[in-house]
Amino acid sequence: MLLLPLYFTMKKIEKYELLFEQIKALINKESDIIANMSNIAAAIHETFGFWWTGFYRVVDNELVLGPFQGPVACTRIAYGKGVCGTSWEEGKTIVVENVHEFPGHIVCSSASKSEIVVPIFKENKVVGVLDIDSENLATFDNIDKECLEKIIEVVQPSIS
Ligand code: SME
Repeated sequence: MLLLPLYFTMKKIEKYELLFEQIKALINKESDIIANMSNIAAAIHETFGFWWTGFYRVVDNELVLGPFQGPVACTRIAYGKGVCGTSWEEGKTIVVENVHEFPGHIVCSSASKSEIVVPIFKENKVVGVLDIDSENLATFDNIDKECLEKIIEVVQPSIS
């Protein structure tokens, strides 16, 4: 019988539990928001091997590219545009099973097939989003939504 390393047999929820602890430890003693966003993006990206993982920040009424892992990406996204701008406008997480079926989806990479965008709040206002893209269809489900929202809720003071 092939014995796979434990990590590869872990369920998604278990990986999120470890990731949550790792991220809390990473940001624990650091106050710089760019350093924290960078390590959070890297930790999520490395854990799951996503295609693109990163942040956009609200700057002067646009979303502007922040720290990320993956290929180069669009630098500015308008309010209400694409998945990111829609998440900002609606103030809620958007899970897209097939980005080609999402009206107005902004193509930063043709390899991206599914996406999740989680808004970041400060004093009840959206100040940025966490955006994750996958090369596969329907990668993200309710587990990703709940776990990523929990991560963002906890790290929000350290990234905004
Ligand atoms: N696809 C996103 C744009 C950002 S990239 O995927 C990194 C959107 O539609 O908002």
